[in-house]
Amino acid sequence: MDLVFHVALDALFSPVSLARESKKMGAMGLSGVESRGGFNDISAPIVEVSHVSTSFGSAGVHEDVSFTIRRGEVFAIAGGNGCGKSTLMREIVGLQEPTSGSTSLFGMESRLLRDGHPQAIHRRFGVMFQQGALFSSLTLAENVAVPLKEHTTLSQDIIHDIVALKIASVGLPADSAGKYPNELSGGMRRRAALARAIVMDPELLFLDEPTAGLDPIIAAGFDELVLQLKALLGLTVVMVTHDLDSLWRISDRVAVLGHGRVLGLGTMEELSRSNDPLIREYFHGVRGRAAREQAGKHAV
Ligand SMILES: Nc1ncnc2c1ncn2[C@@H]1O[C@H](COP(=O)(O)OP(=O)(O)OP(=O)(O)O)[C@@H](O)[C@H]1O
Ligand SMILES: [Mg+2]
Repeated sequence: MDLVFHVALDALFSPVSLARESKKMGAMGLSGVESRGGFNDISAPIVEVSHVSTSFGSAGVHEDVSFTIRRGEVFAIAGGNGCGKSTLMREIVGLQEPTSGSTSLFGMESRLLRDGHPQAIHRRFGVMFQQGALFSSLTLAENVAVPLKEHTTLSQDIIHDIVALKIASVGLPADSAGKYPNELSGGMRRRAALARAIVMDPELLFLDEPTAGLDPIIAAGFDELVLQLKALLGLTVVMVTHDLDSLWRISDRVAVLGHGRVLGLGTMEELSRSNDPLIREYFHGVRGRAAREQAGKHAV
């Protein structure tokens, strides 16, 4: 991973660093939009979910869900299949509207993103969707370049350089750039999706089930990569997962969803001491105990 570290550091301090391009864009007048939205206040929660309820027809998914995410943490949203984790993530990033309540990021209501408001904010977060969601007709490099083409006016040459750096920074070999998603392994596809999610040098990174379906060694490597990128880029990470190994390894705090509500919120240590029957089942079942032992903790 040392090589990855150095390449990523180079990317950060390189003259083609997108961070600098973003600053230039700020100087070109977008900063006015930011201050109007109030989303440059670094003391404010970076994500806020406030009394969110969601239904699809008569089926209720969320019922009065609230929590805040602090700058710099790895915050996990956990819970069983179908409990509404991905839906909540889509609501936070403005792709979907809750039935009632609201979500915000950088102090700005997510619904403003849906209404096509400040484009500047789109540059400040990256999203890795469930299953990676790469475009199958585009090469790895073309996939990673999509956000740059969509949100910047950078030249082809600079886009090419940034994409090459990001592909290296997630530990993928340079010769994978021209390959199509179906020519990559599952682990490589996740790294490619991660490269696309960080290509704009975001402050906030959303990951939906990043390690689902990966073998334990590849999954652990992916978690390690997320931690390294977090340290290098100063990221806040919001990770949707039900991978208990991953939760023990990299989360600072976890919100456990179930029955439409937040059943518990805290560190893994705190949650493992919860008396809530559903949380206990989650943490003290066979898989939960194995994940805890692997994380080197003592069973309670
Ligand atoms: N657009 C939609 N229309 C109708 N129902 C939907 C829609 N999106 C999600 N749902 C339903 O909402 C519930 C929550 O789905 P969601 O994908 O958010 O769950 P999840 O916690 O991410 O599950 P998983 O762990 O399997 O990824 C499911 O019952 C799903 O069928
Ligand atoms: Mg999901």
